[in-house]
Amino acid sequence: MMSKFMEWVDARFPATKMWEEHLSKYYAPKNFNFFYFFGSLALLVLVNQIVTGVWLTMSYTPSAEQAFASVEYIMRDVEYGWILRYMHSTGASAFFMVVYLHMFRGLLYGSYQKPRELVWIFGMLIYLMLMAEAFMGYLLPWGQMSYWGAQVIISLFGAIPVIGADLTQWIRGDYLISGITLNRFFALHVVALPIVILGLVVLHILALHEVGSNNPDGVDIKKFKDENGKPIDGIAFHPYYTVKDIVGVVVFLFVFCFVLFFFPEMGGYFLEKPNFEAANPFKTPDHIAPVWYFTPFYAILRAVPDKLLGVIAMGAAIAVLFVLPWLDRSPVKSMRYKGWMSKVWLLIFCVSFVILGVLGVLSPTPGRTLLSQVCTFLYFAYFILMPFYTKFEKTKPVPERVTG
Ligand code: HEM
Repeated sequence: MMSKFMEWVDARFPATKMWEEHLSKYYAPKNFNFFYFFGSLALLVLVNQIVTGVWLTMSYTPSAEQAFASVEYIMRDVEYGWILRYMHSTGASAFFMVVYLHMFRGLLYGSYQKPRELVWIFGMLIYLMLMAEAFMGYLLPWGQMSYWGAQVIISLFGAIPVIGADLTQWIRGDYLISGITLNRFFALHVVALPIVILGLVVLHILALHEVGSNNPDGVDIKKFKDENGKPIDGIAFHPYYTVKDIVGVVVFLFVFCFVLFFFPEMGGYFLEKPNFEAANPFKTPDHIAPVWYFTPFYAILRAVPDKLLGVIAMGAAIAVLFVLPWLDRSPVKSMRYKGWMSKVWLLIFCVSFVILGVLGVLSPTPGRTLLSQVCTFLYFAYFILMPFYTKFEKTKPVPERVTG
């Protein structure tokens, strides 16, 4: 019965062909480790955000007069509204955690190197769109931090010479952040950006499947094939990795539910305290800080005394990641076989990024500003010096086949 039905479908749509190409006959290296869980987890969180987002939209009102009250209504009166909202807000933080670990894996195993440059570029575009998505979503509850956070970020565009003032007005659609701004952010957050992100995820995975997955050894599994033309060190994604990924999903859901049910605000880091007060354009909060996932870049912005140069530094901190595939000149991919300089610089980069993240949450003092300047310097040094240390350092011999 079923096979007859599939025959009928396959004569009209490449269902089996796609299933085989991307799952049952997609051969992935057999040595995937912990870090390879985060791609499928990113997909899971993406689905969570879309589903909970659609249901939140059913009860949310995008107007300056009613937005804050409609979120309170969702939390108190709508059946299961509280869990939908917490799944969405916790999901936003989970998304960035998963994506940061996913990107770190790329740095660790040189997954951005030839021939996966486009996989990385599509990934970076996803990251950029994700930041825009989170920023716009944060305005929607129309709390104090929604309003003033948006005020700080939109006013940054004002630092651009000549067009700055007009540009900020164009973004806001008004002389100040108002219901008009809220409405356009709502449209972009619930319709435009999710479509763009979904499209980019499809491109990301298509590009990956065109060249095949990298692995913790950074060796090409297509070099050694059996008599049927299948890579000896590869296993079919389905059922082997679909089953393995379920383990990752279960562990992730334990952690996610723990946060969701016991610490949904995460002490003000996932939902900031001033956001439980409705937006008031006449009262600036004592301390404005973005949500944790933006704070490393916010710290870079504040590290530079000049506003325009700060904005440029912040933009460059993200832009430089796009050209990473061309900065790494190492003959090997994985950190396992790179020299000590690559390892030390990756460590310096990660520590600087985390310190910047912490500094971005705190209010500035002269000492903290100095530390953020040192970390900003190290952040950029990692990239600027990369062509040199990757080219001249001594690498270890890479095995012909994966090491297990
Ligand atoms: C919505 C966000 C994202 C989703 C759903 C997603 C999904 C995936 C999936 C399913 C894989 C294959 C499984 C795996 O290797 O873990 C993958 C691989 C990869 N992703 Fe992403 N990704 C996202 C964001 C990003 C970002 C932001 C970057 C980097 C800028 C990135 C870079 C990569 C790279 C380099 C690979 C290949 C890894 C390898 O073969 O070693 N991804 N992604």
